[in-house]
Amino acid sequence: MADERGNVVLFPFMAQGHIFPFLALALHIEKTTNYTVTLVNTPLNIAKLRSSLPPHSSIRLLQLPFNSSDHGLPPDSENCDVLPYNLVIRLLEASISLRPAFKDLVANLIRQQNGRRPICTIGDIFFGWAAAVAQELGVFHAVFSGAGGFGLACYYSAWTHLPHRKAKEDEFLLPGFEEASKIHRTQLPLSMLEADGTDLWSVFQWKNLPEWVKSGAILFNTVEEFDRIGMSYFERKLSRPVWAVGPILLSTESRARAGKGGISPETCRKWLDTKPPNSVLYISFGSMNTISSSQMMQLARALEVSGKNFIWVIRPPIGFDINSEFRGEEWLPEGFEERIRESNKGLLILKWAPQVEILSHESVSAFLSHCGWNSVLESLSHGVPLLGWAMAAEQFFNVKFLAEEVGVCVEVARGKSCEINHEDVAEKIEMVMNDTMRGKEIRMKALKVKEMIKKAMNDEEGFKGSSVKAMDDFFKTAMSTRENGGIKQNGRAENVLVI
Ligand SMILES: *[C@@H]1O[C@H](CO)[C@@H](O)[C@H](O)[C@H]1NC(C)=O
Ligand SMILES: *[C@@H]1O[C@H](CO)[C@@H](O)[C@H](O)[C@H]1NC(C)=O
Ligand SMILES: *[C@@H]1O[C@H](CO)[C@@H](O)[C@H](O)[C@H]1NC(C)=O
Repeated sequence: MADERGNVVLFPFMAQGHIFPFLALALHIEKTTNYTVTLVNTPLNIAKLRSSLPPHSSIRLLQLPFNSSDHGLPPDSENCDVLPYNLVIRLLEASISLRPAFKDLVANLIRQQNGRRPICTIGDIFFGWAAAVAQELGVFHAVFSGAGGFGLACYYSAWTHLPHRKAKEDEFLLPGFEEASKIHRTQLPLSMLEADGTDLWSVFQWKNLPEWVKSGAILFNTVEEFDRIGMSYFERKLSRPVWAVGPILLSTESRARAGKGGISPETCRKWLDTKPPNSVLYISFGSMNTISSSQMMQLARALEVSGKNFIWVIRPPIGFDINSEFRGEEWLPEGFEERIRESNKGLLILKWAPQVEILSHESVSAFLSHCGWNSVLESLSHGVPLLGWAMAAEQFFNVKFLAEEVGVCVEVARGKSCEINHEDVAEKIEMVMNDTMRGKEIRMKALKVKEMIKKAMNDEEGFKGSSVKAMDDFFKTAMSTRENGGIKQNGRAENVLVI
């Protein structure tokens, strides 16, 4: 049945850190436009998405056939969340096999619409090939990055050039993105540090990244007012419009539907209500990460030394099954749990916490975070400054950006294997949370960024913020491309679709 409203097709990579931003984008498009929104993924992820959608959502879920056993992965492993680190690259490689099925799916949608193309397809940063598929079908395609502009620009340049392989020093500039200033070897994620052009990651990225140029636009879940330099890198590099449309975030309800057990927002709020304003440190390393047992021990001691209130989302340390029982008496300093229970200074939360509820509470002063971009946006949307401890991917670059360019972050530690000392960590916690000049300045900057974000998302007629305008411009461009006969290939409009 033909649908006059136009279809927007979204396709994230199979990892929670990618699916969540796409789900947030899907819900946002559903709410702010009249388009039909379709989310595409593999069977098990679609099943999970189904339970994450609000009851009356009109978002359509379509699945592509995929069996992880066919790709040397453990059975029923369709999401990075259930894979050890060394198998993540296998899932990335396996995702390329989705290409023909994705092409059939989009072609089918066009057939059902009597030849009318979707308004656009929006694909993951790991699915460069999806841009090529869209081009073959004459559909406007955008790459949507859940990562910020600066972080992804570093990531793109570093993967493309592997500059650390040529550099004699530990610090080096990123080719084409010299504005970022020097990067240190220790700021490269492990897969990149070990890459030499012949390894699986390089081979994957060298196929993936150049294909972005086949898309019609790049969308970032960020705000132009503070993330301009990263966006400029992609405008130069790809000669494509680059739009900042964020922050687009999941509501607490959607998060809770997707989350696994944990603590209720009410329990958190009640505990926070007993604390003075600006007195609590929130600690979480995101859904994918945990720290080593020695790091955990030092961090716990740092919290006791600093004497600050805290909420810590805690998991078994590296080397232990993420779902195993938490053994605090073994992994934390002797008597730690008892002491914090008695003093009521801290709340330990296993696995999942209502992060937005916590960050929006006036008692929270700072966020010790891995600085995954979603967490960064959630923190800054509430004016909460960060203590950065990057773990993987472009998080190291995010910390650099937030500390050096934006001034809302102090780096605490770097990576999953670094040595940390509790006195040093305590000093940094105090630097941000105490009423010193530095602390006040950082917190004030975070409040300024909060205002910027609020303005960017303002959606009143006549007072549209930059992110709202960017989304409008993006859809206008996609629509007019469609009405003008689709993406031009070889200088000729692809009006006729041959299936
Ligand atoms: C959606 O459609 C309704 C009814 O046709 C219209 O009143 C409304 O303005 C449209 N909304 C948007 C965002 O286009
Ligand atoms: C996936 O493939 C394996 C091995 O061929 C098979 O045993 C299993 O039933 C398949 N799973 C599904 C969901 O089809
Ligand atoms: C922070 O404040 C505490 C309590 O007033 C004090 O003991 C500590 O030395 C301060 N730390 C710094 C780095 O200013």
